[in-house]
Amino acid sequence: MKTIYFAAASLDGFIADKNDSLEWLFKNGPTDISFIDEFVKTVGAIAMGSSTYKWLLDNHSGPWPYQVPCLIFTHQNLKAIDGADIEFVSGEVKQQHLHLQKIANGKNIWVMGGGDLAGQFHDQGLLDEIHLQTVSVFLNEGKKFFARKTETAFKIKDIRQRGDTCVEVVYLTK
Ligand SMILES: NC(=O)c1ccc[n+]([C@@H]2O[C@H](COP(=O)([O-])OP(=O)(O)OC[C@H]3O[C@@H](n4cnc5c(N)ncnc54)[C@H](OP(=O)(O)O)[C@@H]3O)[C@@H](O)[C@H]2O)c1
Repeated sequence: MKTIYFAAASLDGFIADKNDSLEWLFKNGPTDISFIDEFVKTVGAIAMGSSTYKWLLDNHSGPWPYQVPCLIFTHQNLKAIDGADIEFVSGEVKQQHLHLQKIANGKNIWVMGGGDLAGQFHDQGLLDEIHLQTVSVFLNEGKKFFARKTETAFKIKDIRQRGDTCVEVVYLTK
């Protein structure tokens, strides 16, 4: 069981543009995204920040896309989605990570992000790997992939080309 931050970023390290839009990703990202489905099959639980959840609420049409339990980190009173296995939580990610390990049923934990939440997991030494899909586009400003102020260095485990617009690098964080 691993805890993995899996997300896509621009060449200059942003996961969403300044308006919280992911349009650039759908316009410039890889056309074959079956590798995401392959990753999702390994996942037993998801951790998501409230901004990411609100983006899904506003932009995703159709039923809730995930079949595994999902913890939404928030201090707000957010609307739940019918049929979605979600739980609103707050506080130290270390505590909630124990909960995630229980509900993931031996499978991986997907820290979906955003960069704010992923940074907290990293600060607590809870991330095992980062799967970063770098999409070949410059945004110049936006939401950071990893919202940390401290210098952080990683080792590379694997590199995979995803079509002609994206490279995925798997980093080991420990
Ligand atoms: N490109 C990608 O692969 C990708 C992946 C994920 C997200 N995104 C995009 O990134 C953007 C959001 O990223 P972000 O870094 O700005 O935000 P985020 O991590 O999604 O959410 C941050 C918010 O979550 C709540 N929160 C965080 N930690 C908490 C804790 N320990 N306890 C309680 N609440 C906590 C706080 O808001 P409150 O307390 O006010 O609720 C905080 O402001 C969205 O546009 C999303 O679509 C892109």
